[in-house]
Amino acid sequence: MSEITITFVEIGGTEKVITDAGVGENIMQVATANEVAGILGECGGGCACGTCHIYVDPDWESVVGGPNDVEDMTLDMVFETRKPNSRLCCQIELAENMDGLRVTVAPESL
Ligand code: FES
Repeated sequence: MSEITITFVEIGGTEKVITDAGVGENIMQVATANEVAGILGECGGGCACGTCHIYVDPDWESVVGGPNDVEDMTLDMVFETRKPNSRLCCQIELAENMDGLRVTVAPESL
């Protein structure tokens, strides 16, 4: 499995750079395996809890894309902190073209 680099900006501004994120993994898996603060992944990636809410860096929005209808409904659960670049990171599967991706952990709103 090839590996790419992804940067998480934790709440408070601390940057966590992960250099061995596996292509094919979802971002929530990478975050929880590396103890990124604020990404809980309580539903295990089922798009049901909203505890993996992130903001995609504007430079990466076109690469990552937007949520599907199911994710969109779950994002409504975190409406207080939702922004146009909000995503649930369990729903983003890492691809080769995401090397260098940068995301910010959203404040908890549940
Ligand atoms: S881990 Fe529950 S919605 Fe992503």
